[in-house]
Amino acid sequence: MNIVYLKGQFMPSQEAMISPFDRGFLFGDSVYEVVPYFRGIGFRLQEHITRLEHSLRAVRIQAHTDWAAVMDELVARNGGGNLSVYLQVTRGDSGSRSHSYDASLTPTVFACCAPVRDFAAVSAEEVQELSAIVTADLRWHRCDIKSTGLLPNILVLQQARDHQADEALLLRDGVLTEGTSCNLFVVRQGVIYTPKRSSEILGGITRELVLGLADVNGMQYQEVDIDYDTLMNADEVWISSSTRGVLPVTRVDDRLIGDGKKGPVWARMFELLARYQHQLMTGESEL
Ligand code: PDD
Repeated sequence: MNIVYLKGQFMPSQEAMISPFDRGFLFGDSVYEVVPYFRGIGFRLQEHITRLEHSLRAVRIQAHTDWAAVMDELVARNGGGNLSVYLQVTRGDSGSRSHSYDASLTPTVFACCAPVRDFAAVSAEEVQELSAIVTADLRWHRCDIKSTGLLPNILVLQQARDHQADEALLLRDGVLTEGTSCNLFVVRQGVIYTPKRSSEILGGITRELVLGLADVNGMQYQEVDIDYDTLMNADEVWISSSTRGVLPVTRVDDRLIGDGKKGPVWARMFELLARYQHQLMTGESEL
């Protein structure tokens, strides 16, 4: 069963249709969220909703929906379990193509589900190491808005794939920002470093959680500028996202990071994240 939500209704995906004059389609005039559900329960759901509301406010789309109720019901209608919800809100259908918009448009809300891997269900040993390239960050300067205008992300990810790499890490003005759909961490001498929160990166929900877990578990971290040399000379490099958890990158631009193996600091964070996720699902979490 593949049930989606569109404009206030749940329906089979093949019945979902939008107008070609929807501004999301014409201009990428829309924002989105991706929320993982494990065992049918939203993971950091409120944090995702807060970020969605930030994105909506930032682009001045006024949409008032009970986001949690829509996502919960969509997951339940798709059988529950481990699913990620994709939720998109466009400025709406203006009936013609014009850059300017009428503030009274009704936003189009669309949501669908896809299977997601339960990162607490695999052991650190089973996790695959990733490879990455470093390339120019071609995006705009409001990366804190989760906009569906993802063409730069798509192009650089394909550039990575053309080099047989899994991810592209993005460099702007001499400092690394993040990956195409993930945040970035490096470890040097036991300390975790990650780029500062700014409008050049997405404030990742998993990034915040990683820093929160580091805090309560006495792991040292700093939010700093990371340049190319710091990245390449790191002991460990990781990426994080809601759908991937925290994953080790052991090869960048065809060079090994550290000894080319998953690092101990990553392994500790991976375990902490898995434990946190398990506790959240069973109602025992402290964060
Ligand atoms: N992307 N940075 C970018 C550019 C992202 O697109 C994402 C997430 C992240 C990580 O954020 P979070 O931890 O909140 O998932 C960082 C989602 C998963 C996507 O586009 O599918």
